[in-house]
Amino acid sequence: MEKPRWWLLLLPSIVLLNLVGLCKAIESPQYAVVHAEPDFEVRLYVNSTWMSAPVNELSFEKATLFGFHRLFQYIQGANLNYSRIAVTVPVVTSIVPGAGPFRSSAYVVRFYLPAKLQADPPVPLDELHLKPYAWNSHCVAVRKFSGYAKDENIAEEAKRLADSLSRSPWANLSSTESNYSYSIAQYDSPFQFIGRTNEVWADIKVSGADGCNSSGIASY
Ligand SMILES: *[C@@H]1O[C@H](CO)[C@@H](O)[C@H](O)[C@H]1NC(C)=O
Ligand SMILES: *[C@@H]1O[C@H](CO)[C@@H](O)[C@H](O)[C@H]1NC(C)=O
Ligand SMILES: *[C@@H]1O[C@H](CO)[C@@H](O)[C@H](O)[C@H]1NC(C)=O
Ligand SMILES: *[C@@H]1O[C@H](CO)[C@@H](O)[C@H](O)[C@H]1NC(C)=O
Ligand SMILES: *[C@@H]1O[C@H](CO)[C@@H](O)[C@H](O)[C@H]1NC(C)=O
Repeated sequence: MEKPRWWLLLLPSIVLLNLVGLCKAIESPQYAVVHAEPDFEVRLYVNSTWMSAPVNELSFEKATLFGFHRLFQYIQGANLNYSRIAVTVPVVTSIVPGAGPFRSSAYVVRFYLPAKLQADPPVPLDELHLKPYAWNSHCVAVRKFSGYAKDENIAEEAKRLADSLSRSPWANLSSTESNYSYSIAQYDSPFQFIGRTNEVWADIKVSGADGCNSSGIASY
């Protein structure tokens, strides 16, 4: 049986997203690439404020849909300022395997706030159950993948990243367990069929102040 196309529910939103995309550059969080390899890179992101939507769902795709839907209402004006907020990319879904109901994964979907709202974001309406999230300066390992991010492929992509990291100088700074926490960053609307970009992100545990340089890896 054909799987339900969840994103059809978002059709009006997505058409709008595409229109917005044509009109002006879309903002993204800033980062510096501190190390690049063919199959992954290490980025240092500066501190930033995001709006986050925790979601109780068993599936990554549904969690992303429902979380994004709440965030989309927020940026469409469902906030105490009645402000419309520009779309940004990526939309990031963080996944903690085993931390959800019935040992499923726990999901949080996050939206990066435009630079001018970083310091004082409009307060979301209560019923959206959103919370601002201060993402401190942090270091992530990133693996890109194309096509659609789906329940069927994200764990495999996360495992490939963990395998690459286990052979790298970051082996001892990142979790290489098969069920570690990771995030999926999505940059495209579902109607972009080719040239799609997604990323799997794994945290690397060094403090932001050190950049992504730890004593062990400074020589690389
Ligand atoms: C990030 O850190 C800088 C310097 O510490 C600070 O001025 C700025 O307000 C911070 N930004 C956010 C969004 O927390
Ligand atoms: C939202 O409203 C509050 C209180 O009226 C105000 O202080 C704040 O600057 C507003 N924020 C934006 C982004 O307009
Ligand atoms: C990671 O730590 C283990 C034990 O502490 C050590 O044997 C190993 O060489 C380290 N690996 C790297 C890549 O630094
Ligand atoms: C990963 O899963 C295994 C088996 O399900 C479990 O024993 C282990 O505690 C999990 N590790 C983490 C970090 O959650
Ligand atoms: C990391 O260390 C190298 C050499 O020690 C230095 O050139 C670079 O600026 C550092 N990067 C960051 C992000 O701190």
